[in-house]
Amino acid sequence: MSSNTLIVEPNAQGNKGVTLITLNRPKALNALNSEVLEELIAAFAAFEADPAQLCAVVTGSGEKAFAAGADIKEMIEKQSAEFYLEDFFSNWTGEIVKKVRKPWIAAVNGFALGGGCELAMMADFIIASEHARFGQPEIKLGVAPGMGGSQRLTRAIGKSKSMEMCLTGRMMDANEAERANLVVRVLPQDELLGDALKTAATIAAMPPMAAIANKEMVNAAFETTLDQGLIMERRIFQILAASEDKQEGMAAFVEKRGGQWKGR
Ligand code: CAA
Repeated sequence: MSSNTLIVEPNAQGNKGVTLITLNRPKALNALNSEVLEELIAAFAAFEADPAQLCAVVTGSGEKAFAAGADIKEMIEKQSAEFYLEDFFSNWTGEIVKKVRKPWIAAVNGFALGGGCELAMMADFIIASEHARFGQPEIKLGVAPGMGGSQRLTRAIGKSKSMEMCLTGRMMDANEAERANLVVRVLPQDELLGDALKTAATIAAMPPMAAIANKEMVNAAFETTLDQGLIMERRIFQILAASEDKQEGMAAFVEKRGGQWKGR
């Protein structure tokens, strides 16, 4: 399954339940133009709607980039009024973050700059190759992050580092990103995709409702007070306790066998 700017592979490389979405504009370092956005929205909607697909991985084609940002050649043509009236960039959070309840991972294989870094940070977590470079260089273009960089980067790595990155536009290499907790781990380039798919397959093999609920709970930590978050966590736990998969999961543990999930 492919489109102009993406390669979409359900059950990628034999990993049941894992959809691999590859950004595929390597000559433009996978820059994120409107076509990529539309196609990503469609790919995520199809992933979300397919009960057989349970975790996704997003990566970039080519050796050089995950995505080098929003497409500057597209944006140079637009004036402030168009950006404002179209509420430009709002669909990234609205359609790709809020509507995707199933887990997904960013496998960052090279430059993740501007919108590329922001897309990676929309994922539930990031795995990076040694070639990964992260940055919010928008200031050098006379603008500022527009797809969540100032907010998600600050929440991920703290104020000082985020402020320095946004104000200088400098890039952070993969090892610094790991030390700063922006990425889960760093791997040699040729091991990145295999590791991301294997991790996604582990998640896809979990009870599906519990996977969605765990994602919802962790994300709530960024939106609520501790008290409200703890109440939400208990309620979700209590709801999950009524699921058939809870009964099966606990019986499977006691009987020393693998669980057979129903997804309800
Ligand atoms: N938009 C459009 N095209 C881009 C692009 C982008 N963000 N980034 C790279 N490209 C294109 C280049 O124009 C070039 O195309 P041509 O061959 O047709 O000229 C091709 O990709 C290869 O790029 P370079 O020749 O520049 O490659 P390099 O190895 O010399 O440099 C780089 C790599 C450091 C990543 C450099 O390309 C670069 O700085 N890119 C722009 C990064 C950037 O500023 N990103 C932020 C964009 S704004 C944004 O994202 C706003 C937001 O918050 C949402």
